[in-house]
Amino acid sequence: MDLLVIGVGYVGLVAGTCFSEMGHNVTCLDIDHKKIALLNTGTPPIWEQGLEEMLKRNQKANRLHFTSDYIAAVKAASVIFIAVDTPMSDSGKADLSRIEAVAKTLGDLIDDYKVIVNKSTVPVGTHKLIHETIQNRLDERGVDIHFDVVSNPEFLKEGCAIEDFMKPDRVILGSNSEKATAILKSIYSAFTFSHERILVMDPFSAEAAKYASNCMLALRISFMNEMAGFCELSGANIHEVRKGIGADRRIGHSFLYAGPGYGGSCFPKDIRALKTQAELMGYTTPLLDACETVNFRQKRVIGNKLRAYFGDLKDKTIAVWGLSFKPNTDDMREAPSLVLIEEMLQAGAKLRLFDPVAIDNAKKTLSSDRLTWCENEYRAAEGSDAIVLMTEWKQFRFVDFKKIIPTLKGRAFFDGRNQYSQSSMQALGFDYFGIGQATQAPSEFKTSLRSV
Ligand SMILES: NC(=O)c1ccc[n+]([C@@H]2O[C@H](COP(=O)([O-])OP(=O)(O)OC[C@H]3O[C@@H](n4cnc5c(N)ncnc54)[C@H](O)[C@@H]3O)[C@@H](O)[C@H]2O)c1
Repeated sequence: MDLLVIGVGYVGLVAGTCFSEMGHNVTCLDIDHKKIALLNTGTPPIWEQGLEEMLKRNQKANRLHFTSDYIAAVKAASVIFIAVDTPMSDSGKADLSRIEAVAKTLGDLIDDYKVIVNKSTVPVGTHKLIHETIQNRLDERGVDIHFDVVSNPEFLKEGCAIEDFMKPDRVILGSNSEKATAILKSIYSAFTFSHERILVMDPFSAEAAKYASNCMLALRISFMNEMAGFCELSGANIHEVRKGIGADRRIGHSFLYAGPGYGGSCFPKDIRALKTQAELMGYTTPLLDACETVNFRQKRVIGNKLRAYFGDLKDKTIAVWGLSFKPNTDDMREAPSLVLIEEMLQAGAKLRLFDPVAIDNAKKTLSSDRLTWCENEYRAAEGSDAIVLMTEWKQFRFVDFKKIIPTLKGRAFFDGRNQYSQSSMQALGFDYFGIGQATQAPSEFKTSLRSV
């Protein structure tokens, strides 16, 4: 089938590449000409495990094409996926200007039946806006062309996006059209071959299911982060608490890790967008308010621990391991590391930063003569008073601390992701501070943590 994917970001590029891997003829379109030029050399503009090989393979097989030419791309496609960004606006509402721009263009260009599928995360009811926008343009053109709009929210996770797309937990189709549903089922059946995982529902519920899913996951994280603070002060260990509650089958083990707060391009904006839509309807969402409040506080927990440990941070050198909002991605959007680094710079500290893949993106946001960009975790640690682990990249699990220790100025380790055991780090001579673990540190320090 001839598919068009509009918007070649994390979602659009992965979706387009995976569709072509399944044998479809796919064109991916973006208004960012530089991105398209790069992709036409076989280079993905984002880092995602397995993406580059799959991209090159399908380009070589002539099944995957990149363009900015709307006219030719729309004409050739029978199914058009929209995967443009829907960022948070100043008011907290999802900014739908890109979705509307795409819908207007489609209304100007379609000349036969098309299925228009929205994969972007949008407020509930946006399928109607897309439909009306296209229909208005068709009316202005004075043409009678049939089209269907389907809501098909995307659930892939950055860091394992290819795997998630190829083997989805579920595919949600919010559709009022049997014809469009049948076409999409035929496209997605290859991805749900082992057992049926396609859920067909009305478009309002499909749009709401995406927001609800992200809100639920963020709530689990904030709940564990709130428990982590409680554990630290009460003498419990969040690791053990996590195992204890995860063993309950009604709760399960996923998404129960305490850390430096959630970030990324989705959770913060999607929670805000749902809250704002609810507010506009006169409905309150106190649970989501609390989720955000906890996350705001949690993003400052490591900074507070550093301040409590050092007192004055002026001219202290802090090594930061990991910058991206989670491992296996170069995405820096809303990363907790950004909050920590900003705080440390304000406190007069110097920072030595390393991330396996996100440094180029981090450089776009961060700049100061007190930042040193390092080529690996060992170089970052050199001369530092403290090391902070912010992102749990696998390569940080088994670093050679014997090699690192002689290069350090101080011996404090702040483990934002609870990757190491307190006892083995203490045996190496570190003052070790995890998240949600009672600290065997002087009582004076423990007391100062209460203000966190
Ligand atoms: N990133 C994720 O992990 C993820 C997961 C699930 C859902 N989503 C949702 O999917 C949507 C896309 O997210 P993303 O992270 O891929 O965004 P992104 O910012 O990485 O990419 C969006 C792309 O759309 C392009 N674009 C904008 N306007 C355009 C237009 N008029 N015509 C053609 N291209 C246009 C931009 O140039 C950009 O390349 C968002 O709604 C997001 O919430 C994202």
